[in-house]
Amino acid sequence: MTAGPLTTNQDLDPARLREAFGIFPSGVVAVASEVEGELIGLAASSFTSVSLEPALVSFSVANTSKTWPTLRRAAHLGVTILADHHGDVCRQLAGPVAHRFDGLAVTATPDGAVTLDDGLAMFDCTIYREVEAGDHTLVLLQLHAVTHADTAQPLVFHRSGFGRIAG
Ligand SMILES: Cc1cc2nc3c(=O)[nH]c(=O)nc-3n(C[C@H](O)[C@H](O)[C@H](O)COP(=O)(O)O)c2cc1C
Repeated sequence: MTAGPLTTNQDLDPARLREAFGIFPSGVVAVASEVEGELIGLAASSFTSVSLEPALVSFSVANTSKTWPTLRRAAHLGVTILADHHGDVCRQLAGPVAHRFDGLAVTATPDGAVTLDDGLAMFDCTIYREVEAGDHTLVLLQLHAVTHADTAQPLVFHRSGFGRIAG
């Protein structure tokens, strides 16, 4: 089926937009830290690389997020790129706050950046800038350290479901 014509003044209702945005495939990351001894974090598919010098990445967080106001207070944030076997882990990291880290092997840096031990790439970050962006906040993160695996495949989020890269 081909897409219809682009006409202005169309109703950009959120359900329709979500469907259209979902056509663009993305990876998924866990953004996490340890704040006052508690693990805190969420899953985000809005992650993207931004700049090499300085080293920056970004993700968008909904202004309704109950986790972000606490997470943003962390000295450092960990970002983990999820692997293709992390579908359930991703759902867990988006689910009830009390159980987000149940059974997960994680490592925290002395500054509190928390990453998943079996992630594909891990970043140690601080907040570079937060930009108001409608019903979300665009968070630019500055990288301080990075490590990555060479073998496994990433988790792919597409049309509200999980997939993997063929091959
Ligand atoms: C695949 C997937 C991708 C998600 N991506 C984002 C995202 O980019 N930004 C965001 O704010 N929430 C995203 N979420 C939702 C959060 O993980 C979390 O459920 C939401 O922030 C509500 O929890 P909170 O109130 O504790 O923040 C995503 C959830 C899933 C399952």
